[in-house]
Amino acid sequence: MAKALGIDIGGTGIKGALVDTDSGELLTDRIKLPTPEGGAPDEIVATVVQLISDLGGVEDDVPLGVCFPAIVRNGRTMSAANVSKKWIGLEAEALFEKALGRDIHFVNDADAAGYAEVRYGAAKGVKGLIILTTLGTGIGSALIYDGVLIPNSEFGHLELDGKDAEKRAAYSAKERENLDWEHWAKRLQKYYTYLESLFSPDLFIVGGGVSKTADDFLPLLKLETPIVAAVHRNNAGILGAAALAAPIPVAEPTPKFETDAR
Ligand code: BGC
Repeated sequence: MAKALGIDIGGTGIKGALVDTDSGELLTDRIKLPTPEGGAPDEIVATVVQLISDLGGVEDDVPLGVCFPAIVRNGRTMSAANVSKKWIGLEAEALFEKALGRDIHFVNDADAAGYAEVRYGAAKGVKGLIILTTLGTGIGSALIYDGVLIPNSEFGHLELDGKDAEKRAAYSAKERENLDWEHWAKRLQKYYTYLESLFSPDLFIVGGGVSKTADDFLPLLKLETPIVAAVHRNNAGILGAAALAAPIPVAEPTPKFETDAR
């Protein structure tokens, strides 16, 4: 069995668990620690170190994947919409590796969630263009074509009603403005219609904690594109980060049998 440790860094919590990357099942309890106030780099790194020690440590030969809510290019965090601005331009992957004394695989959180759905969830075996959006503090996005992830799509920052889309349509906007499902769904309608007009996707997948009550808002949307709830909600980042860190499973070649020379 292949295993990897996945860590999901979010605006409010940092979560981690050991994952069976063949099946996508958690092999340990999920541990969650609060994200330090302000989300400054050194404090987040220290919390990740603590979390791994709480999980009982991780052997050197077990891959470690970490996902983070920002654009990640070649190990650098290039944006900071909902975390400390100190992350912008930071060699974040190297910072974690120094503190942990080992290699990690470092990716955007929504990309990790999208990859989790490709390997173990609603996008498994689905051909064509899939857009996964996570509706949480911000809006994260993953763009997937024929099972291949195209990283850092950042569709939460498209403009909607003259504002950053996530400020209008993320789940945090519903809570902040006390919107009922119908009012929030009107904003989601605009948002997904806009995405449809730009990308003509074959499937939308909606992730984030609120997708567990998807029945309250998905039926209110009228779209050309099928829209479904993610299979993995709060564990998606952990699963995807772990799966992206693990070596890609190679399909067994079909065995060739020599014909019996008689
Ligand atoms: C960030 C994305 C992130 C999303 C969800 C957005 O504000 O720009 O990088 O994936 O929030 O956390």
